[in-house]
Amino acid sequence: MKRIYFDYAATTPVDKRVLKEMEPYFSEKFGNTMSLHSFGQEAKLALDQSRQVLADLINAKPNEIIFTSSATESNNLALKGVALATRKLDSRFHGNDNAHIVISSIEHPCIMESAKWLAKNGFEITKLPVDKYGRVNPKDVERAITEKTILVSVMHASNEIGTIEPIEEIGKICRQKGVYFHTDASQSFGKIPIDVEEMNIDLLTASSHKMYGPKGAGLLYVRNGVKIEPILHGGGQENGMRSSTVNVPAIVGFAKATEICKAEMKREGVRLAKLRDKLIKGVLKIKGAKLNGDPRNRLPNNINVSFPSIEGESLIIHLDLYGIACSTGSACSSAKLEPSYVLLAIGLKPEEAHGSLRISLGRQTTEKEIGYFLKVLPKIVEKLKKMSPFKL
Ligand SMILES: Cc1ncc(COP(=O)(O)O)c(C=O)c1O
Repeated sequence: MKRIYFDYAATTPVDKRVLKEMEPYFSEKFGNTMSLHSFGQEAKLALDQSRQVLADLINAKPNEIIFTSSATESNNLALKGVALATRKLDSRFHGNDNAHIVISSIEHPCIMESAKWLAKNGFEITKLPVDKYGRVNPKDVERAITEKTILVSVMHASNEIGTIEPIEEIGKICRQKGVYFHTDASQSFGKIPIDVEEMNIDLLTASSHKMYGPKGAGLLYVRNGVKIEPILHGGGQENGMRSSTVNVPAIVGFAKATEICKAEMKREGVRLAKLRDKLIKGVLKIKGAKLNGDPRNRLPNNINVSFPSIEGESLIIHLDLYGIACSTGSACSSAKLEPSYVLLAIGLKPEEAHGSLRISLGRQTTEKEIGYFLKVLPKIVEKLKKMSPFKL
């Protein structure tokens, strides 16, 4: 049976062109970037060139890019790094006064858990609500900022419901108020344009494996002048901000993946949005189906729908029997069988949130696959509805 992958938001396959670019850095060009000999310098050159490519995509300077292992690490570094640096350097917080951080209520678990850890360690956290489409209201950001606020972190686009947040407006407010603005762009990086200058972004997270690069590479953009404290201490790599021998093959792959995404962004965005809209139209013909997320401001590759009275997990298993791979929400939390906090935050009842399905499209998605999915899904939904003990 041919398998169909509709879970590109969880991870993507490595593009063959990326793999080819990476290969020499596992074998002939395997040097350590900190070594002074030619092997080291060869690796260092590749690292510098990669940094330039990544910086160019978002209109940053190369020295503002810190390579990490993942978006999880970058998000931890952003929140904890800013928090700890403030506590150390800002005399306002040398007494018992708690510094304050604002996040949204639909952030990825790695932001949520970092914020929770900071709350346990004496920082004050505000979680902003979102509207029924999952959008943060910039006015809420403005109202939440106090004289103790040091950082606002609002994701660029939701990994679950695809909603694109008004980060340009939020960035502007943060700049006016003198508060750092961080955005988790793991799902948008390489898919839609980002300009850290125009958008007033001070810190930004991205992950290679979400955009046809390898796993094991991420980045944190940190605007020059923003103070952060490192979390990994050691040999002083990445300008002292992230010690550990640099993963050159993965970073070279990350850069090649970025070049490809940049070159193909416009065309691929239009192609995916067309497929997405066709899929949404088809799915909404199923009785009771409801689209989650913003109908207009959403990622070109994301569809999230709820079906009353059926379990999302049963849907996934039945779709898998037809060779179709989807997800109920974020890959990290979908194994927990708890209703998604993101769907609850946009106002879904727990039983509605349980019946949700995320379909995320990508480079290999074809019209034929969409057609097959739209043929199979109504049958599965019908079958599961009949079996369901709930009647909504
Ligand atoms: C929005 C968002 N942030 C962070 C992450 C974590 O990414 P990584 O797997 O690179 O740690 C993900 C991945 O699921 C994500 O979608």
